[in-house]
Amino acid sequence: MAVIEIEGLHKSYRKFQALKNINLEIETGLFGLLGPNGAGKSTLMQILSTILPFEKGKVSIYNFDLVGEGNKVRELLGYLPQYFHVPGQFTGREFLHYVASMKGVTEREERHARVEDLLEKVNLLEAANKKIKSYSGGMNGDWESPRR
Ligand SMILES: Nc1ncnc2c1ncn2[C@@H]1O[C@H](COP(=O)(O)OP(=O)(O)OP(=O)(O)O)[C@@H](O)[C@H]1O
Ligand SMILES: [Mg+2]
Repeated sequence: MAVIEIEGLHKSYRKFQALKNINLEIETGLFGLLGPNGAGKSTLMQILSTILPFEKGKVSIYNFDLVGEGNKVRELLGYLPQYFHVPGQFTGREFLHYVASMKGVTEREERHARVEDLLEKVNLLEAANKKIKSYSGGMNGDWESPRR
């Protein structure tokens, strides 16, 4: 079993067919998805991250079917999209608690330990109670993007 299995995947935006019969098996490790602008890379990534529905085909990650077992897939998944935005009104600590809760770390002590550990690892303990919008670009992980 490959980690990611894609069989006969089709995706259309109204009449425009963006993905036509994609068949792909991806094993553990690094995998580069290359193609010219508009080839459908982001479309495929959005499907794999369960954000975007598709009309035909079978896609599974660790044998969990994207259709019907999306919650399982989202538990396993970490995804950095082409454009990434952090909410400026949150403090760094609040945002990490929010993300941890969304990822299912609901036990308070465990979440606290994970958040504090991460803040220390990325050198943000001192800034943890400041709003993200006051952070520098390197601190908030954000960068110039054409959408803003
Ligand atoms: N929401 C949408 N509605 C209609 N067409 C779309 C939509 N999103 C993407 N497309 C079209 O689907 C095709 C694939 O787009 P996609 O963004 O997946 O390409 P890409 O390979 O990620 O390109 P890039 O390298 O420029 O990021 C393009 O022709 C694009 O115009
Ligand atoms: Mg893209």
